[in-house]
Amino acid sequence: MYDKLIRNIKVGVIGCGYWGPKLARNFNAIPGADLHIVSDLRKDRLDHIAGLYPGVRVTRDYRELLDSGVEAVAIATPVSTHFEMAKAALDRGKHILVEKPLTDDSAQAQELVDLAQDKGRVLMAGHTFEYNPAVDFLRDFIAGGKLGQVYYINATRVNLGIFQQDINVVWDLAPHDISILLYILGMEPTNVSARGSAYVQPGIHDVAYLTLRFPGGIMADVRVSWLDPCKIRRITVVGSLKMIVYDDVEPVEKIKIYDKGVDMPPYSDTLEEFRLSYRYGDITTPAIDSAEPLSLECRHFLDCIRYDRTPRSDGAAGLRVVRILEHAQQSLLNGGEGEAISW
Ligand SMILES: NC(=O)c1ccc[n+]([C@@H]2O[C@H](COP(=O)([O-])OP(=O)(O)OC[C@H]3O[C@@H](n4cnc5c(N)ncnc54)[C@H](O)[C@@H]3O)[C@@H](O)[C@H]2O)c1
Repeated sequence: MYDKLIRNIKVGVIGCGYWGPKLARNFNAIPGADLHIVSDLRKDRLDHIAGLYPGVRVTRDYRELLDSGVEAVAIATPVSTHFEMAKAALDRGKHILVEKPLTDDSAQAQELVDLAQDKGRVLMAGHTFEYNPAVDFLRDFIAGGKLGQVYYINATRVNLGIFQQDINVVWDLAPHDISILLYILGMEPTNVSARGSAYVQPGIHDVAYLTLRFPGGIMADVRVSWLDPCKIRRITVVGSLKMIVYDDVEPVEKIKIYDKGVDMPPYSDTLEEFRLSYRYGDITTPAIDSAEPLSLECRHFLDCIRYDRTPRSDGAAGLRVVRILEHAQQSLLNGGEGEAISW
């Protein structure tokens, strides 16, 4: 009933390599969205889309897509093209969803934020994990004080591939973990350092280790790699009361809460009396909504357009991630020297 009453929004998708078709599938399936046109430079990709959705127009020129009467545009092309396309779309009054990272340059990201504001249009960054119910659970658990004081976080995002040629592994994979960290902690880091190596493609780091320092002494380590035998997508958050593990590779039990910890004795007069007490309590696995995060993200984008709302991962959130990536890149080139970030 509700779905029949909502306003239909015509959507165009630019880029249909690996990720774009997933956006197209969702916009085709979501009630109240009309997947109208798809653009890619490659004819074989357009043939693929035309085969899947015979009623959808295809074009090799994204400007034709912008002039086709669509109200909303999703951009899933290589990051070096995001700024030009996003700017052209905003200039033509489109609402836009731009894949992560928003741009490869913070000045350009800022320009998009300002332009969207001037034009009164939705600018959303494709931070898919911010729409992941397991990440929402993490955020609520921390915000509700159940974890106690957050001590440190470890995030691992590694597997074999997909090697990129225009960006390194930090710009490719770390946007996910950085956006998750900002979202679950509700704060920005004050310092980032990064070390890494380029083993396969000269000059393009394929393995990197980042350390982000947040207010309150919280430390977050992020390991990203395109060169690892195992696919790992895991975040561990250690707090003073509980420890929690979010494993995105697990099909069902994505979150495990460990009632483990260590307490200092209230006082001790002698070294013999001093004993840390360790707690080995229950491990619980809460039920997590199994909805597809990308579908939730696309629905949120459409709702923000329909009801004039600010997206959860708005342009400002996209800009924050780009600024952190820039500092991490600087540190990578400076041999891991910490880079202070002012906000
Ligand atoms: N949110 C996520 O979880 C997620 C996952 C994967 C990729 N991504 C992001 O999606 C974007 C695309 O990544 P991908 O892995 O699909 O890359 P890809 O290389 O597989 O696909 C990019 C496509 O864009 C097309 N393209 C390039 N220039 C174009 C132009 N001027 N006009 C029209 N089409 C053009 C290419 O022909 C290609 O088919 C990147 O920003 C990436 O970071 C996001």
